[in-house]
Amino acid sequence: MRRSQFFAKKSLEVLLEEMAGEHRLRRVLGPVALSSLGIGAIIGTGIFVLTGLAARQFAGPALVVSFVIAGLACACAALCYAEFASMAPIAGSAYTYAYISLGELAAWIIGWDLVLEYAMASATVASGWSHYFLGFLGLFKLKTGEAILTIPLWLSMDPFTASTQHIDYQTAKTLAIVSAEATPLNAPGQPRGGEGPLTLALPVAKEAGIHRVARVGVQFSPESIAAVEQLHRRHAKASIDRVQSALESRLQYDPVVEPQEMLDRVRNDNQGGARAYQETPLALGRLHLTINVVALAICAVITTILVIGIRESAGVNALMVLVKIGAVLFVIVAGIGYVDTANWRPFMPYGWTGVFSGAALIFFAYVGFDSVSTHAEEARNPRTDVPIGILASLVICTILYIAVAAVVTGMVPYPQIPLHAPIAGVFEAYGLKAATVIITIGALTGITSVLLVMLLSQPRVLLAMARDGLLPPSVFSAVHPRFRTPHRSTILTGAVCGLTAAMFPLEAIGHMVNIGTLFAFVVVCASVWLMRRISPGADRPFRTPMLNLVAPAGILLCLGLMVYLGWQNWVRLLAWLALGLVIYFVYGRKHSHLGKELREEIARHGLSPAGAPLNGEAAGPPDDAS
Ligand code: ALA
Repeated sequence: MRRSQFFAKKSLEVLLEEMAGEHRLRRVLGPVALSSLGIGAIIGTGIFVLTGLAARQFAGPALVVSFVIAGLACACAALCYAEFASMAPIAGSAYTYAYISLGELAAWIIGWDLVLEYAMASATVASGWSHYFLGFLGLFKLKTGEAILTIPLWLSMDPFTASTQHIDYQTAKTLAIVSAEATPLNAPGQPRGGEGPLTLALPVAKEAGIHRVARVGVQFSPESIAAVEQLHRRHAKASIDRVQSALESRLQYDPVVEPQEMLDRVRNDNQGGARAYQETPLALGRLHLTINVVALAICAVITTILVIGIRESAGVNALMVLVKIGAVLFVIVAGIGYVDTANWRPFMPYGWTGVFSGAALIFFAYVGFDSVSTHAEEARNPRTDVPIGILASLVICTILYIAVAAVVTGMVPYPQIPLHAPIAGVFEAYGLKAATVIITIGALTGITSVLLVMLLSQPRVLLAMARDGLLPPSVFSAVHPRFRTPHRSTILTGAVCGLTAAMFPLEAIGHMVNIGTLFAFVVVCASVWLMRRISPGADRPFRTPMLNLVAPAGILLCLGLMVYLGWQNWVRLLAWLALGLVIYFVYGRKHSHLGKELREEIARHGLSPAGAPLNGEAAGPPDDAS
C-alpha cells in the first residue's frame, strides 16, 4: 500500500456534489431546532451528576472556575467547528473535516475517536439517568417509610462500583483512628518563629464556635491498617486513600463530630455497593456480577424512538429541552436563597491542581455542542444555521452551568454534596420535597434528551465513514426505506451503549469520553487553521474571528485538560486508537473509495518518482483539496 492513500484528501467540491445525490437524510432542521438539538446534547449528566464528584474530589467551591476553564476550551473549539461546519455542511462532523484537510488516515483516526465521544458519552449518560431514576423511585414511599417500587440493588449498579464500594465499606469498618487534627480556617499555616503549624485536635468543642477547619490530617492505628492490608492485599492502599480522603474532607465542615463517628458515615456512604455485592445471585468465587439494567433499558427505549425518525425525534427533543432549561433555572432561582457564602470557604481546597482536574472532569458537561455539526445534512440552511446552532447552544449552557455551580456549592459544604444525584440531593438535604421532585423530573428529562441526541449523532458519523467505504455499507449506510433513518447502525450503537452502561462505572466511561473528545477538538482546531492556509479562497460563510489566536489557544487548552485526565486515560485512548488502526488496515484501507480511485489512477498512469500517481487528483498537491 502506498503512503499516498494515507494522505489522500477528499475534495470539498466532491463532498458538496455528494450531498445532492440519492439516499440523503431529510432536510427538516432550522436554526432553533439545531440550537435545541445542541442544548439537548449539552445539559445532562455532566451538570446533574458529575458536579458532585467534581466538587467533592477535585475543585471544591472553585467548581465555578473549573466550568469557566472548560467552557473556554470549548468556546475555541466551537468557533473552529462553526467555520468547518459552514464550509462542509455534511454529516460526519470532525471526521469529514479531517478528510478534506488532513487526509484519509487522520480522518479514520478522528472518526474512530468520535465513537468514543458519542457512543461512550451515551453510555455515561444512560448510567447517569439510572442514578436519577433510582432517586425518583425512592421519592414514592408507603406510610411505613418503605419505597413503593424498588429495584434490587444488584440490578441497579455496575460490577466495578459495587466491588469498590464493598471494599471501601470493609475498609471503613476496619480502620481505627488514633488522632485527627486540623488547621483552623484562615489561621496562618506556619507561624513565624519555627514553632510548627498551628493545629487543633479534632473534634473541636461546640462552644469554641469553630464551624470550618482546613487541612485535616487523620492517622489510623498501624494494627488497623495491617488488618485492611490483610483483607484487601493489593487493593488495600487505594481503598485506605479513598476512605481517608472522604473522611478528611467531611471533617473540614463538621469539626465538632467525633472523627470515629464520621468514619461510620463514610462507611454508610458505601453501604449500597456493599449490599449489591453481597446480594447478587451472580457470584462465582470472588467475582460478584451486578448489572445496571436501568441504564440498559433506557438505551433500548431511546434506540427505538430513533429508528422511527428524525422529525419525531426533533419534536420530542424540543419539548425535553424546554423542560430541562426550566429545571436548571428552577435550581438557580429556588436555590439562591439557601446559599451561605461560608460554604465557599475554603474556595480552592485542593489548589489549582484540583481546579484543573475538576475542569477535565466536568468538561463532560459541555460535550455535545459539536453534535450540531453532525446534523448539517438535515439542516435547511446548513451554512448559516449550523454555526448559529453550535455557538448559541454553547453560550446558553455555559452561563447556566456557572450559575448552577455557584448555587449548589453555596447551598451545602462541598464534601456533603451527594455523589449520585447531587443537584436534587442538595435540595433534599434541606427537606425541600417538592423542589426535589421538580429537579429530579427535569434532570431525567434533560438526561434523556442528551441520550437522544448522542445516540442520534453516532450513526451519522458512521454513515459518513461507510459512504467513503471505510466501514461496511451494508450495516452502516443502510437507510430505512420508510423511516429514512440509519436503522442498522442506530440499533448497533444502542446495543453497545446499553451494555457498556450496564457494566462499567460512570466516571470511568466519562473520562474516556473526555479524552476522546478533547483529542477531536485539538484536531478540529488544527484542521481549520491548516485549511485557511491550504485553501484560503474557499467559500467560508462563517469565519472564525482571530483564528491565529483562537486555534492555538483551543489546542493548548484542550491538550492541557487532557494532561489533567491522567496517564491511565492516555493509555486507554492510545489502546482505542490502536484498535481502530487495526480495523483500518484490515478493512477500511482496502475498501476506501478514494483508495480505489487512487489504485485505478496508478494502474492507468503509473507513479511519479516520488511515489505519487502521475495524474492523481485524489492525492494531488494541497491546492486540490480546496
Ligand atoms: N454534555 C452531556 C451531558 O452532560 C454529554 O450529559
